[in-house]
Amino acid sequence: CRALVLISGSGSNLQALIDQLHSSDAPLHIAAVLSNKADAYGLIRAQNAGIDTLVLDHKAYADREAFDRAMISAMDAYQPDLVILAGFMRILTPTFVEHYQGRLLNIHPSLLPRHKGLNTHQRALDEGDSEHGCSVHFVTAELDGGPVIARAAIDILPGDSAETLAQRVHQQEHLLYPQVARWFAEGRLSLAASGPLLDGQAL
Ligand code: GRF
Repeated sequence: CRALVLISGSGSNLQALIDQLHSSDAPLHIAAVLSNKADAYGLIRAQNAGIDTLVLDHKAYADREAFDRAMISAMDAYQPDLVILAGFMRILTPTFVEHYQGRLLNIHPSLLPRHKGLNTHQRALDEGDSEHGCSVHFVTAELDGGPVIARAAIDILPGDSAETLAQRVHQQEHLLYPQVARWFAEGRLSLAASGPLLDGQAL
């Protein structure tokens, strides 16, 4: 399975994918990492692993459509089977999302459908949630609204801050995302009209 990973920042999820899948005998090969920021640390992680890197600065394009069209043409040169969003901080157009429908994954730092959007850790605290976590979903045109494949939960503890929650959620992300990507690479996971299927069963 030939994958592309899209990032904007630190890329700790990218690192987990490299360590657990790309650099192992798993059937997933990361063909390239694309960032919209030239200084994203994840680009260095990719280079250290010998993976191609691409930078497309969204500010160089007239609008979202032009940026997304440029991404599609750069990405399709790699003929990806799977596109993995890992901290890619741009909203994608329906053109882009539909082009990669059924092979576009995202990880979001909340237990979806709770807390779509930004500042999820603080919002979980502010709303008095007793648990929090992360979710991997297929991407659709609705922001953080695509069908959920898997979630990992943590308890919110007395004294937790947005920072301590972010840290514990990240640990879960680094386990959950490689697991879901492995299912896809093994041909076990797909998106049907009814929703995500794992081994032919509804999730
Ligand atoms: C993660 O919290 C992920 O859930 C969100 O963006 C963050 C990326 O972190 N979509 P990293 O760059 O992988 O460290």
